Amino acid sequence: MSGADRAANFGHDSATVWFTGLSGSGKSTLAFAVEEALIARGVATYVLDGDNIRFGLNRDLGFSPEDRTENIRRIGEVCRLFQDSGMIVLTAFISPYVEDRDQVRALHPEGRFIEVFVDTPIEVCEARDVKGLYKKARAGEIPEFSGISAPYEPPVNPEITVDTSKPLDECVAEILAKLPIE
Ligand code: ADX
Repeated sequence: MSGADRAANFGHDSATVWFTGLSGSGKSTLAFAVEEALIARGVATYVLDGDNIRFGLNRDLGFSPEDRTENIRRIGEVCRLFQDSGMIVLTAFISPYVEDRDQVRALHPEGRFIEVFVDTPIEVCEARDVKGLYKKARAGEIPEFSGISAPYEPPVNPEITVDTSKPLDECVAEILAKLPIE
């Protein structure tokens, strides 16, 4: 049986929806809101984020450039498995390097990797500072913090750019419109 057969069984195509953006940009919030909307439509879906990946599969990894690359590589392989399962997988990781994201894209059939740039300016992420990490990063307590003391490379040609100053349901609708679920 192929991934396409499994997807047909669900009644929709499989895809990876890859949210990328700074810490505190709203990636997880968006991913879970999209998940809820998909579930309401009977779509088989799942969210991968720091809580279920960095504390389990990738708990041996930190935030050096090498570890971030390995983090994204492994997540990409997990996405490939979800792709084969016929499901729509949503991921919420900073994934700061263009090259790493492009490697994950290359694991997918054409059109099945949907890169969503959560384009929240760093000033906004820092003002929110939901987890208090920006304050610590500015104080030098967290080294190599994305956007402060480590790079974040925005996508060059993302399928979707989300402006999170808009209401959440509008952002969700823009994303749903690009998914292979009809
Ligand atoms: S990634 O760069 O490897 O893609 P990932 O999305 O898994 O990062 O994890 C980012 C989360 O880890 C942040 O939202 C934040 O809560 C936490 N974190 C801890 N240390 C750092 C750091 N040095 N840089 C960025 N995020 C960090």
